[in-house]
Amino acid sequence: MNKLFTFNNEEKEYIKKEKENHENTKSAVIEIIKFIQKKYNWVSDEHINSIAKILNITNIELEEITTFYSQIFRKPIGKNIIRYCDSIVCYINNYKIVQKEIENILKIKPGETTKDKKFTLLPTCCLGNCDKSPVIMINNNTYTNMQPNKISMLLNKYK
Ligand code: FES
Repeated sequence: MNKLFTFNNEEKEYIKKEKENHENTKSAVIEIIKFIQKKYNWVSDEHINSIAKILNITNIELEEITTFYSQIFRKPIGKNIIRYCDSIVCYINNYKIVQKEIENILKIKPGETTKDKKFTLLPTCCLGNCDKSPVIMINNNTYTNMQPNKISMLLNKYK
């Protein structure tokens, strides 16, 4: 049997309200998922099972909607999220050496989280600073003209 998550009253209320506010239940899903992620930092299988039950849709339907959005995390993430741009201009300007340096320092690959749960590394598409590439973001902060020799000092600020 699928394990369920026990939502508190505030969470139940939010889910109920979103369900009522949307004619199509599925369109409420993304708002609910975003709300849960904001609270728990990621969305577990138990969350998915309980939301599906409340909305009266299947887990698979719910999963399909959530996997469509790359900003929804289905496994625990680190305290800091590092996103490196792998789009064309950053590619031309050799983002890969920056990515490699991050991987070497943190001992993780893209999609992974450090053992101490401080960092998660993710690729992303254009961050809108192509003229200053390569570009990375850590949480909501953007760093431009990145070079491998800048990475260590930068990461230290987030440790
Ligand atoms: S291609 Fe990397 S910021 Fe635009």
